Amino acid sequence: MHFEYTEEHLAVRDAARDFAKSELLPGVIERDTEARFPYEQIKKMGELGFMGMMVDPKYNGGGMDTISYVLAMEEISKIDASASVSMSVNNSLVCWGLEKYGSEEQKEKYLKRLASGEIIGAFCLSEPEAGSDATSQKTTAEREGDHYVLNGTKNWITNGNTASVYLVIAQTDPAKGHKGISAFIVEKEWEGFVIGKKEDKLGIRGSDTHSLMFSDVKVPVENRIGEEGFGFNFAMMTLNGGRIGIAAQALGIASGAYELALAYSKERKAFGKPISQHQAIQFKLADMATQIEAARLLVYKSAWLKDQGMDYSDASAMAKLYASEVAMNVTIEAIQVHGGYGYVKEYHVERLMRDAKITQIYEGTSEIQKIVISRSILR
Ligand code: CAA
Repeated sequence: MHFEYTEEHLAVRDAARDFAKSELLPGVIERDTEARFPYEQIKKMGELGFMGMMVDPKYNGGGMDTISYVLAMEEISKIDASASVSMSVNNSLVCWGLEKYGSEEQKEKYLKRLASGEIIGAFCLSEPEAGSDATSQKTTAEREGDHYVLNGTKNWITNGNTASVYLVIAQTDPAKGHKGISAFIVEKEWEGFVIGKKEDKLGIRGSDTHSLMFSDVKVPVENRIGEEGFGFNFAMMTLNGGRIGIAAQALGIASGAYELALAYSKERKAFGKPISQHQAIQFKLADMATQIEAARLLVYKSAWLKDQGMDYSDASAMAKLYASEVAMNVTIEAIQVHGGYGYVKEYHVERLMRDAKITQIYEGTSEIQKIVISRSILR
């Protein structure tokens, strides 16, 4: 058992850390306040290779392992979770799904541009009446000769308006239940595809979350991913890896808040000494550091299992469940350490707390992770 980083891991981590500090930190509060997407920053992240980190270099990816990806996600999320959710969806859901299950033509046509960050992608599973209950898809895709006709609405789609390519899950044979669900690649410009309203959110306010409407959108048969009926399994397999990305995001949010609280506790004086010299604060810091370390081990283990080609579905569910809970706990405590300053925007920790909350909801709520874990235990 090794608990060491390689030199490559450290180089990736440091590059992500430098980028986050120099490019994401300036303006992060304003982007949050104005709910403004970090266009320029995401473009630069593409140029630096952060948008297709694990993709084979022959498809313009970085050819890196999942540990490197997790390290980069952690660093970006310490500063800007709105940027990191775009990165996570593009890497883990869109690029991974296409590389693993897409045809050679799909990889040539779409993956190369997605992995290089030239364009970004979105993953469209959730619907107004199908969030946790993802098998209840109402979006339909009916085959008509050499194409499908897509109709329906998707909700809460990350990169909803900024994406160019959308992986859409739809029902192709309702009589077969989840085994009649298929996955498709849909382009933004196609007729009948309308980008709906942008959500005004509690956190990750810089990310671009929309509903999407499909009205008789013609999708060529060659844009189906895998066989007809493979779509639900595609979504579940893809989300297993997505959950590692979100777990890393939660870990980063927690670490970012902890680092701010630690630094503040050494500067701020009360009762004649830095508050870090008071046991009330020391115990908070000890709890935060311990929880973060435990979350980190779960996140890295799930990434490692994926890199070894071993089953990581339970590990990723556990990592996301725990890391998101830690993100919530630690960010609340980081505000408490900051006192009144923690409650105002300038000190960042209130934003990190608002951002933390979504990690307990998207890519499967904490309750869904418990279903995944308990079913596996009891199988
Ligand atoms: N890995 C692999 N396969 C899985 C799986 C997993 N983690 N979980 C379920 N499956 C498979 C099952 O094995 C089964 O396959 P077969 O029929 O071939 O055996 C199939 O999926 C159906 O599973 P169940 O019979 O258990 O179905 P269910 O309805 O009882 O439960 C569920 C399914 C696990 C609750 C599933 O609906 C689920 O994960 N829901 C949460 C959906 C979710 O995570 N949404 C996130 C939206 S994407 C997002 O947030 C992205 C973003 O923008 C940030």
